[in-house]
Amino acid sequence: MPFVSQRTLRNCLPLLVFLSLCLLLAATTRSLRNGAGLPKPSFRLGSHQKDGPARHAQQQGKQKTIPGQPSRLEDLKPGQCTPEMDFLRREQLGLTETIRYTRRCIRPIRSDKVDRNVLTNISSPLVDIAKMATINLTSCARTEIPPCKVLELHAPNRYPERTYPHLLFGIASSYARMESSIDAFATWLSGTGAQLYVIIQDADKHFLADLEQLYRDSGIEATFVPPPSLNPPKEAENPTIEHLHFLLVRSLLAFSTPGVTSWIGIIDDDTFLPHLYPLQTRILSQFNPQKAHWIGALSDDFNAISLWGFMAFGGAGVFLSIPLAREIEPHIETCIKRARIQSGDGILKECVYAYTRTKLSIVGGLYQHDIRGDVSGFYEGGLETPVSLHHWRSWYREEGLPRGVLVGREVCGGCWLQRFKFGGVAGDKQGQEGEGINDVLFVNGYSISEYFPAEGTWKAGPGGLDNIDLGRIEGTWGHAFNGEYDFSYGPLRRRLGAARKKSYKLVDVNLIKELRQIYVHRKSDAWQVEEGAMDEVIELIWEV
Ligand SMILES: *[C@@H]1O[C@H](CO)[C@@H](O)[C@H](O)[C@H]1NC(C)=O
Ligand SMILES: *[C@@H]1O[C@H](CO)[C@@H](O)[C@H](O)[C@H]1NC(C)=O
Repeated sequence: MPFVSQRTLRNCLPLLVFLSLCLLLAATTRSLRNGAGLPKPSFRLGSHQKDGPARHAQQQGKQKTIPGQPSRLEDLKPGQCTPEMDFLRREQLGLTETIRYTRRCIRPIRSDKVDRNVLTNISSPLVDIAKMATINLTSCARTEIPPCKVLELHAPNRYPERTYPHLLFGIASSYARMESSIDAFATWLSGTGAQLYVIIQDADKHFLADLEQLYRDSGIEATFVPPPSLNPPKEAENPTIEHLHFLLVRSLLAFSTPGVTSWIGIIDDDTFLPHLYPLQTRILSQFNPQKAHWIGALSDDFNAISLWGFMAFGGAGVFLSIPLAREIEPHIETCIKRARIQSGDGILKECVYAYTRTKLSIVGGLYQHDIRGDVSGFYEGGLETPVSLHHWRSWYREEGLPRGVLVGREVCGGCWLQRFKFGGVAGDKQGQEGEGINDVLFVNGYSISEYFPAEGTWKAGPGGLDNIDLGRIEGTWGHAFNGEYDFSYGPLRRRLGAARKKSYKLVDVNLIKELRQIYVHRKSDAWQVEEGAMDEVIELIWEV
């Protein structure tokens, strides 16, 4: 199937819509003689395509409520269910009525000497799958819950407590999309002192103060504004979402606080930063904010680079110093008029090329994520903690991300996605402590995966990870082996089928006294699955 960029669609869609409207009008014999009454080609239509993810999210939300299933929320006698189990009974987790359950308590041994990029080898099993309890989530009736044996894991220190008032983030989006993204933004902006400035394209249909208040209630220093007008204002023509994205350069410059704001970060409404600390320490601190800087990342898809050019891709986050924004600002209108590429990041690129001598500084850790489908290979690949992620609720679906990163914020800083390998060591055999899962890769805050030997038996047995090169990323996503990802993620290894790898994915995190990560392996919905098949849950309980 040919690769069709979403951006290509975005640019073609208005034209198609316009043409269809023309045909429709012609067909209804409405006279086209003088052209009056014709709809103006509204480029805003193009941005509707951006509403896709929000719509998906709604559908996803609906799917989780399976009709006909007993409500898990019916009242039980006090003490019948523990608060921990009540957390699993919530409908949004969508678990089967009865589940198999086991757990492990984790005591992090924090140190700044831990190299979180090195895979840790642990010879004993993580949990004992053979001794899982069965829990009826309707009645809370359960077989014996396994004891919570303590496991010590070496992890980095917490990120230092600090604020980021020198960072000003800007977004151009719609009311509905920002409304559905509060939790994700709160995860990394709440209480940080960083400013969020949002241009709402459909501001005329909404009351922005309400949305702004919701963000402020979540601890985000947010400001919501309607679209600015161009100078001189073009009559009756509203700026497209892409133009607004570029216009942020001017708006953010005007909004910035002299002597306080040092960086302007232009991001998409589906850009997610696990934490601001790595952005500051690994990226921004390397540059002098008094000088002109244009900082960002290329796409991870080489085809996208060929199509859009050598530039900082907007979804990964584009960072400008105030001096560079000042150089560009007087040319905003000219740049929009002359741009050959009508995308916000593309106009910015041409503007930087045309009016400044600043060159792009490409930095690691920012991910445009032009990848689709199953991206578990990326998250399980042992990469340094990502600084930014994109497309996580649209091109691919990883709704658990904002919950997943909490282990970093609450427990051990850069330990999100740190990898630990369990079992699989010769001599560690069944019968001893080692009965249970023998070849397990634990990717903190993302997944627990059991690997089986190539023969493809379902019987737990050692050796499943023996011939797997965990130094390579598993090419799980679409077109992974077409070559366009070699420069960004290669060398890749082949994707493993269900007979070789069984994954428990993080679905939620419960912060009570501890941080409780809920990893779920969903029962297969294939028709062969025997009656009474259950979801399996592994809970990892971290001392905070
Ligand atoms: C779970 O408990 C409820 C309420 O007691 C009961 O109606 C249901 O049959 C049980 N489910 C299973 C699978 O045992
Ligand atoms: C990790 O385990 C493997 C066996 O699977 C062993 O050969 C290797 O030496 C271990 N590495 C470290 C760093 O302990």
